[in-house]
Amino acid sequence: MLTKIIAHRGSKGTHPENTILAFEAALAAGADGIETDVHLSKDGHLIIMHDETVDRTTDGTGNIQDLTLAEIKALDAGSWFAPRFVGARVPTLDEVVQCLITHHFTGIFNLELKTNRIHYPGIEAQVATYFKQHPVPFQLVYSSFYGRSLERLYRLQPDAEFDSLFSLKAQDARRLLARHVILGYHPDMRWVRWHWLFLPKVQLRPWTVNRVRDMRFCYRHHLAGLITDYPELAFQVRARM
Ligand code: G3P
Ligand code: CA
Repeated sequence: MLTKIIAHRGSKGTHPENTILAFEAALAAGADGIETDVHLSKDGHLIIMHDETVDRTTDGTGNIQDLTLAEIKALDAGSWFAPRFVGARVPTLDEVVQCLITHHFTGIFNLELKTNRIHYPGIEAQVATYFKQHPVPFQLVYSSFYGRSLERLYRLQPDAEFDSLFSLKAQDARRLLARHVILGYHPDMRWVRWHWLFLPKVQLRPWTVNRVRDMRFCYRHHLAGLITDYPELAFQVRARM
């Protein structure tokens, strides 16, 4: 089995994470998959960003859940990374989906619901409704560190694919796995290295696999995928195996 290369927050190592520029760079590299994170704005829009606040990756401040879409769209999401990316905007889920469709992407779209630190009432229903109304030509894979989000989504969209993010609450993941709610694990790469023999034999797609030796480990053991900030490097390493 060829280990799939999934770009973490787009091509995060070379472009401002979770922007259209980062996703386009990952697509240009030929990524087999795209990983990203979703939150809910004050006025109920699905916002693509990693952190719960806009502080680190834009020129603004505040919690996403306290800002409207218009306020978020006014922020610069590129210049913090490098001056040449000035003017990049924070995308909505729909803008990312449309970008993937425009580029004829048919790989894995791993959408992580960032619900483990902040409560976003109704985000699972909103995400499920979005994808019911917008059938997509790629493989949608939901994940979350918060097992209840996956259970809620599973009730709303049982035909979707769910993978658990491996966290300290491993027993939650095992429970969901036993009930066939989840198909795979997305563990921290350090856990894979230390506990490889003890991990359940399911689809493993570890993160964040940026070191060449870790990439080689994933390829050598034929893991289902790896999630990396450097998809171009991952392809170079895979080609040399
Ligand atoms: O999906 C794997 C990985 O993205 C989880 O960690 O913090 O980068 O969202 P984080
Ligand atoms: Ca993530």
